[in-house]
Amino acid sequence: MPVNDSSSSATPKVAPAEGKLGVLIPGMGAVTTTMIAGVEAIKRGLAQPIGSVTQLSTIRLGKRTDNNSPKIKDFLPLAGLNDLTFGTWDIYEDNCYEAAIHAGVIEKTMLDQVKEPLQAIKPMKAVFDSEYVKRITGPNQKPKGSKMDHAEMLMDDIRSFKERTGSSRLSMIWCGSTEVFHRPAAVHATLKDFECGLQKNDAEISPSQIYAYAALKSGVPYANGAPHLTVDAPALMELARERQVPICGKDFKTGQTLMKTILAPGLKSRMLGISGWFSTNILGNRDGEVLDDPGSFKSKEESKLSALDQILQPELYPDLYKDVYHKVRINYYPPRGDSKEGWDNIDIFGWMGYPMQIKIDFLCRDSILAAPLVLDLILFMDLAQRAGMRGIQEWLSFYFKAPMTAPGLYAEHDLFIQLMKLKNTLRWMKGEQLITHLGLEYYD
Ligand SMILES: NC(=O)c1ccc[n+]([C@@H]2O[C@H](COP(=O)([O-])OP(=O)(O)OC[C@H]3O[C@@H](n4cnc5c(N)ncnc54)[C@H](O)[C@@H]3O)[C@@H](O)[C@H]2O)c1
Repeated sequence: MPVNDSSSSATPKVAPAEGKLGVLIPGMGAVTTTMIAGVEAIKRGLAQPIGSVTQLSTIRLGKRTDNNSPKIKDFLPLAGLNDLTFGTWDIYEDNCYEAAIHAGVIEKTMLDQVKEPLQAIKPMKAVFDSEYVKRITGPNQKPKGSKMDHAEMLMDDIRSFKERTGSSRLSMIWCGSTEVFHRPAAVHATLKDFECGLQKNDAEISPSQIYAYAALKSGVPYANGAPHLTVDAPALMELARERQVPICGKDFKTGQTLMKTILAPGLKSRMLGISGWFSTNILGNRDGEVLDDPGSFKSKEESKLSALDQILQPELYPDLYKDVYHKVRINYYPPRGDSKEGWDNIDIFGWMGYPMQIKIDFLCRDSILAAPLVLDLILFMDLAQRAGMRGIQEWLSFYFKAPMTAPGLYAEHDLFIQLMKLKNTLRWMKGEQLITHLGLEYYD
């Protein structure tokens, strides 16, 4: 069936998902170990992939009366869970089983049932810089060298991982700690400047950018799960386009921001006003410890604050949203471990300006919410690569707190618009009719 909307792009030819997909992950902490342990448990029938759109969600094709809603994983040639093989880097030497025990997200009785594959995953030596992540350090680091030397060592790692595992394709996703806040600098302007900066050890180039450079140079898609600057710099976008590689980011949209992007569009759709939104969190995992550093927190804060403003569009609705007082706090509180508690107090107003309040107390599990996002992003980035899509993958905004967009374009934060965009992109990939929800044909 032909595509029927204004999209002028022809239906792409999607190459089949043949062979193994090698999944490369800088950072083997709570999120990574929870995702890998979950995949191994699901493969053995010990758990369900709850929260994963690629594994559980259906996609409607044609009219509502057609009753044709296959699962996404049956509709498109996605890599299967049995075809995934994992490679990680970390500054700690713990294997994936030990790191998962340390993270304390999944209980030991479950981890013991997937101990063998987890123990086999040993992290490669990391490219690390304590100027970028301040609260932690570890022994498993690459020998000293220039930033270009480190990029080349990572490219060697990528090559030998691919050979060792017999992977036919690769996909990389950053699940390492949040780096301190940086804005793009002169060294990020062009690829030439960036490569020169790698040679000269420019202080503005972060470890995550060295991983991203190594991935893109090797033709490997790169997704950024943390809020810091990485591929959202002109030089790396240029490299992604040049090498025909998809990129996306940034910062997984999980607990509190997920709730925000569910609630705010709902309140706005009914034209209810908001005067204040106060969000505070306590969490006690290693992520929380790193975020206790003001530089890393600044990266997170910028990413968390951006969503509300874009959803509410105060410039279009000044009477409702002009002066929203929006505050976000994260407090490191070790007793909670990975079980975060996020409170939101929302001051709203309705008819004739009468005030009301909404309180949310979300007792969430950070890594349990993030793990299915990592899996989906790996599979969708590999799909995008096989569909010949390159550069920023805006259709994956659904997964991010601060989605990357083309320069000059505002990011779409409304979760439901993001989901529609994601599913329409999947329909487009297969030449199916896009769904506009106009629905007049049912009333002729
Ligand atoms: N719900 C969520 O959990 C969630 C949501 C959004 C974003 N994130 C982001 O995802 C990332 C991972 O979260 P987590 O809870 O697993 O954190 P974590 O602290 O448990 O794990 C991060 C790991 O990265 C390692 N690391 C740091 N710098 C590295 C480097 N240069 N190279 C290789 N390894 C490095 C650390 O040693 C650590 O083991 C964080 O940046 C976090 O902010 C998480």
